[in-house]
Amino acid sequence: RQVTHRSRVHSTNTIASELLSQGAPHGTAVTADEQSGGRGRRGRSWISPFGGLWMSLLLTRPLPLHRAGEITLLAGVATARALEHTFGLPARIKWPNDILLHQKKICGILAEIRADGENVHSVILGIGMNVNLTENDILPELRNKASSLQMETGQRFSRAEVMGAILNEFNPMYTELVENGGGFAKVQEEWLSLCAHLGDWIEVQLGTERKRGLCLSIDRNGVLLMKMDNGQEIRVPSGEIVASE
Ligand code: BTN
Repeated sequence: RQVTHRSRVHSTNTIASELLSQGAPHGTAVTADEQSGGRGRRGRSWISPFGGLWMSLLLTRPLPLHRAGEITLLAGVATARALEHTFGLPARIKWPNDILLHQKKICGILAEIRADGENVHSVILGIGMNVNLTENDILPELRNKASSLQMETGQRFSRAEVMGAILNEFNPMYTELVENGGGFAKVQEEWLSLCAHLGDWIEVQLGTERKRGLCLSIDRNGVLLMKMDNGQEIRVPSGEIVASE
């Protein structure tokens, strides 16, 4: 595997995209100590100081566009599994693919897709994990919902080891799904078993609207299935869980 490490970049996803344009092969990884313009989901920025794992993976094997979402869900499962298997940490997934430890977000995943018609020709999978961040690294207004491995465990972790653990879980799952034509059912089942809020009452922000309901499941496209107070079931293709009980 080709790994490019930089001390400071705007965003590792941007670097990965540039490497892609230059013909970098499938599996290329880009990491950085710091990002000055880290990107999060929904157009947000991602604060990326020294001590975190800021990584992007270049995946260039084709997959039909309508299945691209499976890769982000798979990445969430692989990351949660890595924390659990390698470090014994009870990581859970908050829909769609935030990784929580003790109910606090410690990792986010941003997949950027390059498609050509119905064929996805590449996915840039960005994974940002707050590894050795301390309280001062987390914005005061986020401290009740965001944290780091170090803050939650009182221990420091090797970023390289965390990265290795994620890739060790991710690679065989990816090969099975994309190259061996394995079904998504197994990933979906594992995702559901790691889901932090299955069967809980949740509130989802959808644009300017908020909907409250019971979290029932996700389908194979990552769509969240919710049951409302009135018994009606709704499908939420994208949005954000803002509360759960
Ligand atoms: C989220 O909003 O939860 C997703 C955050 C993704 C952050 C990672 S850090 C490595 C890669 N480079 C970026 O600019 N973003 C992703």
